[in-house]
Amino acid sequence: MANIKKVLASLTIDEKIGQLAQLPPFFFIKDLKKEVSGPLAKLSITEEQVFSAGSVLGIGGPEEMKQVQDAYLAKSTHKIPLMFMADVIHGYKTIFPVPLAIASSWNPSLAKLASKVAAAEASSSGIHVTYAPMADLSRDPRWGRVMEGYGEDGLLAYRMAFAMTEGFQGESLLAEDSIAACVKHFAAYGAVEAGREYNTVDISRYALFNYFLKGYQGAIDAGARLVMTSFNTFEGKPATTNEYLLRHVLREFLNFKGVVISDYDSALETIEHRTSLDQRDVANQAIKAGLDIEMASTTYLKHLKQLIQDKVVPLKLLDEAVLRVLELKNDLGLFENPYKSMSVEKEKSLVYSHAHMDAALKVSLESIVLLKNANQTLPLKKGVKIALLGSHHNTGQLLGPWSWHGDRTLTQTIQSAMTPYGVYFSSAVEDLEQYSKEDLRRLKKADVIVLCTGELESMSGEAHSRANPVMFKHQTEFIKQLKAFGIPIVLVLVNGRPIVLTEVVSHVDAIVETYFLGTQSALAITKTLFGENNPSGKLTMSFPRSVGQIPLYYNHLNTGRPFNGDKKSYTSFYLDEDNEPLFPFGFGLSYTQFQYGTINVSSSLFTPKKPLVISLLVKNAGLLDGFETVQLYVSDLKSEVALPVRELKDFKKVWIKKGKVEKVEFTLTVDQLKYVHSNGDLTWDEGEFVIAVGSSSVHLKSVTVALKKDSK
Ligand code: BGC
Repeated sequence: MANIKKVLASLTIDEKIGQLAQLPPFFFIKDLKKEVSGPLAKLSITEEQVFSAGSVLGIGGPEEMKQVQDAYLAKSTHKIPLMFMADVIHGYKTIFPVPLAIASSWNPSLAKLASKVAAAEASSSGIHVTYAPMADLSRDPRWGRVMEGYGEDGLLAYRMAFAMTEGFQGESLLAEDSIAACVKHFAAYGAVEAGREYNTVDISRYALFNYFLKGYQGAIDAGARLVMTSFNTFEGKPATTNEYLLRHVLREFLNFKGVVISDYDSALETIEHRTSLDQRDVANQAIKAGLDIEMASTTYLKHLKQLIQDKVVPLKLLDEAVLRVLELKNDLGLFENPYKSMSVEKEKSLVYSHAHMDAALKVSLESIVLLKNANQTLPLKKGVKIALLGSHHNTGQLLGPWSWHGDRTLTQTIQSAMTPYGVYFSSAVEDLEQYSKEDLRRLKKADVIVLCTGELESMSGEAHSRANPVMFKHQTEFIKQLKAFGIPIVLVLVNGRPIVLTEVVSHVDAIVETYFLGTQSALAITKTLFGENNPSGKLTMSFPRSVGQIPLYYNHLNTGRPFNGDKKSYTSFYLDEDNEPLFPFGFGLSYTQFQYGTINVSSSLFTPKKPLVISLLVKNAGLLDGFETVQLYVSDLKSEVALPVRELKDFKKVWIKKGKVEKVEFTLTVDQLKYVHSNGDLTWDEGEFVIAVGSSSVHLKSVTVALKKDSK
């Protein structure tokens, strides 16, 4: 290992500043002299500055990586290797389900497996850092990026972000198959107003600390080495120059010790936010706020030296930031081996290997959520005459956004996976008027219609918000047309967010929500439809009845006038809509049925030293083995600041064989009941709590207990 303090001391001020710059790969391998009118000119930096930059963003393939590192090491004066960063969000080439789908598995060990596989593939390609996990809590399906996160609950986000970070980073960053995790987007990016990408965030400190921070905290507690700032403002200040967020909340409250990096151009964009005057002002504010690496823009390269010479910025701030970057490079083993893990052969042997494809299938199978299954339409019997319809039935576009390196041409289609099970008719056209008479005749003879439809991959992800996340008009019309045939309809949804299904729900017999399941989508869907997989996913975002209900989330406050069921009363309701979602948080069906026994608690009074043990029996009363996710919710009946009507405090996913009973036990400690009070303290209160256990956030059994301090 290098002695990084010595390395730091050996650097000139220009070389130090270079470590804080992150540039795209082509800067290092193009003839920059010819670029005078190109990107270099736009950034107005010199070739010398390019070859002092500390890291590279968005690169793919070991060959390119090697070329860039070689060119850099040949020209840079200090010979400190470049660090390569990229968006490896849900798989590198073997693509896993989008994080929202993985979260729906309620199985953090699968999240860990997915990121472990992703790390192994990405590192063989030369990537050292991934810009993941994205732990932005979101209550708004209009926002295109909900597919990148874990949904609306803090605890679930905490556990998923924790597990993903562990998977990426492994036991040690020195390991060949580990990459460093960069949790993003700090902070509260998921709260963009009206779900519109890059929009304003205006939430309270109460909401930040009690809800929105939890996902980031999960990654940080698991040791994530980097944090990315967000595009939005918090309390009017852009996150990237927000000293309160970066120094107080991140470093003090969350105890983060690693590297802070901006989002793409987010430092420069503070000029657009109109909180920075010019690039010098950006650099001045950003370094003081606690930003280490500037992604894509170059205000540090251009202005930091002068700011230090003018004594506007203390040298100490620069040294601290550079030291953090050098420490990361050192921990990654880059000083010893700038080409760490980079290997064409290794990449070839890992990508789509049996082990990786098996892992992807495993995760996909548990991510599927069964939302409706009237008259046991599912599972299908092998050999039934299936009419396989819809825009998504015969395409490889199933990987989902943020899967740049995934190959759609190699992705199996649902049609191909399902053919051995008996596809008798198929069509991608979602309008019966366009079907020939012969097609209609055949279609009418089908035993079941499987309609695979939803959103295109390009309808969610960054910069892809929707004001109306509903089924498209032609899809609804098509479903209504099909309904007239009287044949059971199974709706297989492929999409990047919760969709308003109100208009179609009563016209279909079964609904299978898959989001985007990645490389193994087709196989996972097929196995599930035919009962080789018993679905076990549960929603991690509420599915609204109407767009007007958004933001909609289970852990809302009670209000002073909770709806009392009487729409003539002056209570909190809509004249034209219910308050409840169509499908609630935590909901998901199985092909078997689970019966919940009564809840037992160790005592009706618990204390810090005597935590509450909650147990119950869950019986699999159906005819198939299956997983059930048992959820524990708590309501604090009197708190200093208002807390949610109920909040998830723990969950357990258990495998229960048909006819068998499993005992499920939770231990509730005071730590789980802590919240940030109005004075900023993270503490718990004495008082009464409702303990509720069940199969979703609304299907619950409950008991009331009291919490007291231990007597001295
Ligand atoms: C996105 C980040 C991403 C970065 C680098 C930005 O536009 O907001 O999530 O990591 O680009 O690709």
